[in-house]
Amino acid sequence: MITTEGGGVTRRALLVGVGVAGGAGAMYAAMGALGLAPDRQQKDYAPPQRSDFALRGRGAAKVVILGAGVAGLAAAYELGKAGYDCTVLEARDRAGGRSLTLRGGDRLTELSGETQEARFGDGVYFNAGPARIAQWMVTLDYCRELGVPIELFVNDNPSAYVYNAGMKAPVRARTARADTYGYISELLAKATNDGALDKRLTSGDKELLLDFLSDFGDIGERFAYSGSERRGFQANPGADAPVLLGPPPAVSEVLGYGLGRSVAFPLSFEQAMPMFQPVGGMDAIARKLADAVGRDRIQTSVEVKKITNVPGGVEITHSGGSTTADYCVAALPPHVLARIPGNLGAQVTGALRTPQPVSAGKIGLEYGRRWWETDDRIYGGITETDMDISHIWYPSYGFHGPRGLVVGYYNLGSDADAYARLKHAERQSRAIDRGMRIHGGKYRAELLSSVSIAWRNQPHIEGAWVAWPSYESGFRLLQGPAGRVYFAGDWLTHLIAWQAGALESARKVVTQLHERVLKEG
Ligand code: PHE
Repeated sequence: MITTEGGGVTRRALLVGVGVAGGAGAMYAAMGALGLAPDRQQKDYAPPQRSDFALRGRGAAKVVILGAGVAGLAAAYELGKAGYDCTVLEARDRAGGRSLTLRGGDRLTELSGETQEARFGDGVYFNAGPARIAQWMVTLDYCRELGVPIELFVNDNPSAYVYNAGMKAPVRARTARADTYGYISELLAKATNDGALDKRLTSGDKELLLDFLSDFGDIGERFAYSGSERRGFQANPGADAPVLLGPPPAVSEVLGYGLGRSVAFPLSFEQAMPMFQPVGGMDAIARKLADAVGRDRIQTSVEVKKITNVPGGVEITHSGGSTTADYCVAALPPHVLARIPGNLGAQVTGALRTPQPVSAGKIGLEYGRRWWETDDRIYGGITETDMDISHIWYPSYGFHGPRGLVVGYYNLGSDADAYARLKHAERQSRAIDRGMRIHGGKYRAELLSSVSIAWRNQPHIEGAWVAWPSYESGFRLLQGPAGRVYFAGDWLTHLIAWQAGALESARKVVTQLHERVLKEG
C-alpha cells in the first residue's frame, strides 16, 4: 500500500496503488467505494429491447398499468421501447399524478367538492407538486432523453429571510448565518483557548481549530465576534462607500434565531444546490412521457374497481368496463390500492396498508409586480419561518417579467392538515396574514390571484407521499409481484417524495417483468 509520510493514505495514492496491483477493474471498483465512480443508477438499468424478443422468436406481452403518474408513465414508456402492448388506466382526468403544474384556466377539485380555477396570467405557472430536481437524480436523465429543457432552481438564497418566533423582525439569511457562525466560533474559540478541550485536543489540533474558527466565524484577534461585511449592508458598496449594517445583536438573541434547520437544509444530500426544474413547469416530464407512450394508450377518468389474477393473466375491472392483460403494473398510492378489491391476498393488502400518507400543502400567490426582485432584491430561493406556512418560495423563472408567482406556504404534517381543513379563501387569508409579517402590506395589496392544494384532499391520490414505519417486511414483500401484478411508485424506494423514486421503481419493475417474460413467455 502506498502511504503518505504521515502514515495516512491519500485518495490518489490509494487509487494508483490499486490500479497497479489489480488492473482497471479493481481500480474502478475502488473508485466506486470512494464515491468517485458514476452513480450506480446509471449503470444498472438496460431498457428492454425489441431484439430480446426477436432472438427468442416470441412476441412482447400485454401489460395494463394502473395510474398515469410518473411511475406508471415511466413503466409504460420503458416497456413500450421493446414493443410491449401497454394500456394505462388513470382515474383522474389527466396524466401526471402528483406531478401537477397549474396554469391559468386549470381547475382543481378537492374531495370536499370545492373547485378552484386558476386565473394566472400568461407564462405564470404553479408547480403544485414536485418542483426541484437534484443533479444526481435519474429524473435529469429522462429530461435529457425526452428533450425537456431544464433551468436552475434556486434552492438557497442568502438574501431571503429567516423569521422565527422570538425574532423581532425578519432577518436576511446572510445576516442570521453570519451572526450564528460568528458567535458559535467565538464561543468555541474561547473555550478552546481557556483549555476546556484540553482532554480532547493536542496543542497542534487546538491551533488548527482556532485557525478554522477564525475563518469560519470571521472572528477577531481575541476571538470576539463583532460582525463583519458578511452580515450585509445598510447601503451596498457602489460609487459611494458602503454603509455597514452595524453590530450584531447579543448572543442570546442570535441563538434564539433557531437557525439549525435552515442552515442545515442546503447541506442535505437531496437539497444541495445546484438544483433544476423543467422550463415552463414540472409537468413537462410527465407530458413528454405520456406523448412517448402514446396518448391513445392512456385512458383517463377510468377508475379501477377490482384487480384479479386469473390463470395466465390479470383482469382489471374498472368504471369503463374491463381490461385483460398478461401482466399488471399497479402504480397507485399504496393506501388507495389497498382499498381496491381483488385477489392479491391478505399479506399483500396488509403490506399496502402499512405506509401512512403524509400531508403537504402549497399555495401559489400571483402578483402583478415582482416586488421581491425590485424591492427586496431576492431572485429565487426560500424564506424560512417557524410559522405554520414554513416557507415562502420565490420563483426561479420569469425574472424581471411583468408578473410572478410566490409559493406562500409549503407545509407538512399538522400544519398542512390545518390548512387542508380550510376553504381556499381562508387558506389564502391565513397565508397572507403570515407573509405580511415578513413582507408588509404589499403582500396583500398587490395579490392578483391564488390557488392552493391540500394533497390529502386530492381525489385518487389522498396524500403528498407516504411514510413507512420501517423498511421491513411489507416494503420488501411489495418489491416482488403478487401473481402477475407488480407494484411501482416512489413509495417502494428509498427516494420517497421524489419523482426520481418513481422513475427508479418503474425501471426496477420493468427489469423484473421483462426478465420473467423472456423466461416464461
Ligand atoms: N421532494 C420534496 C421536496 O423537495 C419532499 C422532500 C423534502 C423530500 C425534503 C425529502 C426531503 O420538497
